[in-house]
Amino acid sequence: MLTNQKELFRLPEHVTYLNGAYMSPFLKSVEAIGHASVSKKCFPYEVTGNDFFENTNRLKQEFSKLVAIDDYKNVAIIPAVSYGIATVANNIKLNAGDEILVVGEQFPSNIYSWQKLANQYNATLQIISAPADFNQRGQQWNQAILEAIHEKTSVVAMPHVHWADGTLFDLMAIREKTKTHNALLIIDGTQSVGALPFSVKEIEPDALICAGYKWLLGPYSIGLAYYSDALTNGNPIEENWINRKNSEDFGGLVNYEPEYQPKAGRYNVGEMSNFTLTPMLINAIEQLNEWQPQRVQEYCKSISEEAIQTLRKLGCFIEDDAFRAQHLFGIYLPKTINLEKLKAKFTKQNIFVSFRGNAIRVSPHVYNSKEDFEKLVRCFR
Ligand SMILES: Cc1ncc(COP(=O)(O)O)c(C=O)c1O
Repeated sequence: MLTNQKELFRLPEHVTYLNGAYMSPFLKSVEAIGHASVSKKCFPYEVTGNDFFENTNRLKQEFSKLVAIDDYKNVAIIPAVSYGIATVANNIKLNAGDEILVVGEQFPSNIYSWQKLANQYNATLQIISAPADFNQRGQQWNQAILEAIHEKTSVVAMPHVHWADGTLFDLMAIREKTKTHNALLIIDGTQSVGALPFSVKEIEPDALICAGYKWLLGPYSIGLAYYSDALTNGNPIEENWINRKNSEDFGGLVNYEPEYQPKAGRYNVGEMSNFTLTPMLINAIEQLNEWQPQRVQEYCKSISEEAIQTLRKLGCFIEDDAFRAQHLFGIYLPKTINLEKLKAKFTKQNIFVSFRGNAIRVSPHVYNSKEDFEKLVRCFR
């Protein structure tokens, strides 16, 4: 079992930060690497040709280890989830009447490209909303998704856990159903990868897209995308010199090259070598690989389970443990608790959570403790 890791972060003692789903704090080590990386460009002669490739490869390898990808060359560096999703959407052809399935109130960066694609081909965006009542909500929602996948479904684009309340989706079952209907499965792992185990080998998604600044503990504006072999022959969004074959040979760059770097190499964002952000994200993912996502889940469970029982007794709805993540969950209030009053209490106590839709979103990590949850529960009382 992991122990509390707060000493590796700079979160102040008076702050109860339960909002990793909004943005993670940096590890001290990531911050230090960031400072050093910024300073490196004061001495540009120290940036070598190798620096353009070596760290990005290391980053892709470290990410591959985290999510069990066989070949790191299936990974591309992206600046945002929207970019990673657009790369897939731009390479899909649909027939009129086809369906793209998403879940209700899904994060917009995994919606707009699909809306556009659906409009382009006269296809339908099929939105599977959460059940209206709380009775076996997570189970019913998963069931509704499975039932909605049929011969017209071309793409299922969804997360592993819902960003607003942590509802856990059974991707193994969903993948199985998509396979029987030849539908693509595109996963936005932003709110799960790093804190919740994910195995590309087991789930076999067609793409896995992750922003780096939440559960990967990295900086803003850099993320990672896995594309399966079937998707790696497509058209990239842009044409960057570094994504072409032999770009390592700086002397030959104007021998314009028609071929791309292998596999997902064509989908890297321009200036993928980002000398400041790349080493920071490497360090963060190394730490996650050491901790292991399963142990992050276990730790988050151990510090939150008593509080969750108490909140349920106070009339709050929190999803069944089997259908929610441990690092991210929603608290739906009973009518007897006034949201505005609660918000004021949180502010006074320096408790940071998010308010998403009707849920209070609580998202702990290894820097949190049981005491943080006791403090949270006192506000409800
Ligand atoms: C599920 C999910 N996906 C993606 C993002 C970020 O998207 P982007 O990287 O396109 O800004 C967020 C941010 O909150 C999110 O919660």
